[in-house]
Amino acid sequence: MTWQKFVPQATKDGSYTFFSDDFQEAFHSFHGAKQEAEIKFVQPTLITNIAQHHNSIRLLDICYGLGYNSAAAMEAIWQINPQCHIELIALEISAAVPQQAIANNLLNQWRSPIPQLLAELAQTYAVSKDLFQGKLLLGDARQTIQQVGNWQADAVFLDPFSPPKCPQLWTVEFIAKVAQCLAPQGRLATYSCAAAVRSALILAGLKIGSTAGVGRKSPGTVAAYVDQYLTPLSLQEQEHLQSRAAIPYRDSSLSSSPNSIHELRAQEQQKSILESTSKWKKRWLSLNT
Ligand SMILES: C[S@@+](CC[C@H](N)C(=O)[O-])C[C@H]1O[C@@H](n2cnc3c(N)ncnc32)[C@H](O)[C@@H]1O
Repeated sequence: MTWQKFVPQATKDGSYTFFSDDFQEAFHSFHGAKQEAEIKFVQPTLITNIAQHHNSIRLLDICYGLGYNSAAAMEAIWQINPQCHIELIALEISAAVPQQAIANNLLNQWRSPIPQLLAELAQTYAVSKDLFQGKLLLGDARQTIQQVGNWQADAVFLDPFSPPKCPQLWTVEFIAKVAQCLAPQGRLATYSCAAAVRSALILAGLKIGSTAGVGRKSPGTVAAYVDQYLTPLSLQEQEHLQSRAAIPYRDSSLSSSPNSIHELRAQEQQKSILESTSKWKKRWLSLNT
């Protein structure tokens, strides 16, 4: 990772994001960074329902970044149950991202004590208070996920850069590790609706549903071991899972380079007898017009 000085970029809901030179991608949707955290990550995990009946919630934030998903979750939980104890494990490759988010006051859009707690987390990587215990594990999430051990989360936020830019965090093998960190009644949310991501979640033994888009953008995905309250996929989405787009990314050593992960998948796609993705797209374009 090269060190980068991030310049806050405004998104359409008035909140700010960063742009990564390394990945050539923004950290959030330009439709709204704060909205994305709330709509694509916090709401689909139904943590406010948990907070109504429990005094303790565990969050696993994969690709913590600026910390928006954690901040939005903490606010939603404490609005419903101010006495709820939150345990957070956050995985992130670069300490510079959360530290610069704090330095630019970007967490101040959430209520006190959230910005203060997350500022301490960004500086010291561990916080232990009455109602909040947080750990920020720095490094490649393919390794740090192994430090999570038997700990299981009620809500998992899976927020890497897109599969073309960061395929290593969307592979069958990595997602299987992530699934081991999800509690039997917990829910995992991601902004991606890519068929390859969805098939990796299914291969990990999870059921999947669609979540609302931000702006007029495509839906996201929620996954859980139980299919209660999951919005079923549309026929178009189901058929997407029968096309070559659904051939997942693989990384059996959990250490392959992005290029070799892409190459391996391209080879598998070439050999496949599944419907081509362009044919699936064309068919649905003609049905929808
Ligand atoms: C799309 S951004 C996440 C945005 C974040 N969830 C937020 O609310 O600000 C992706 C993040 O993944 C981090 N990242 C990239 N590769 C990683 C890796 N191999 N392991 C852990 N984190 C990684 C980047 O530094 C970046 O912060």
